[in-house]
Amino acid sequence: MFFKSNEIIQDTDALIREHSEKVSLPLSQEDKELAMKMLSHVKCSQDEEISEKEDIRPAVGIAAVQVGVLKQIIAIYIQMSEDEVIELAIANPKILSHSVQMTYLKGGEGCLSVEEDHPGYVPRYARIKVKAYDCIHDHEVILRLEGYPAIVLQHEMDHFKGVLFYDHINAVNPWEPIEDAIVIE
Ligand code: NI
Repeated sequence: MFFKSNEIIQDTDALIREHSEKVSLPLSQEDKELAMKMLSHVKCSQDEEISEKEDIRPAVGIAAVQVGVLKQIIAIYIQMSEDEVIELAIANPKILSHSVQMTYLKGGEGCLSVEEDHPGYVPRYARIKVKAYDCIHDHEVILRLEGYPAIVLQHEMDHFKGVLFYDHINAVNPWEPIEDAIVIE
């Protein structure tokens, strides 16, 4: 189950700048199905055979606005190592607390909704504690994330406010060092 490439909203579409609404709980069948399809999409996108055949761009996360639904739903699938996977389909995430320390990806970020390269560092909190509704298991969860998964979730949550990763890049000096930040290769 995945979205066709023409179903993914691009940053050339004004919708990508809209704000997403909280979903009502307990989750409706429609919202649950959307969350599961989004998660499946991200998984499929990481399968070389499927992604090539179906022309799906590889991704680790997606927000509902990217498939044209202005609801606070996110799916994330990250293969951390051979036996560790971070798999999330969540609704209404809220950051309860975060580190002062920042982190960033050494190579910058990308996005399913952004075709062009936007080089530069994107500062993110290094550690976050998030409350959310787990759409897979149907209950509230508290997530403590750090490093790469924390970056991915912050990127996806930005989509709820219509914010794109390149909005955070220093326009004057995109590669300006970020003080005390953890660099992720
Ligand atoms: Ni994105």
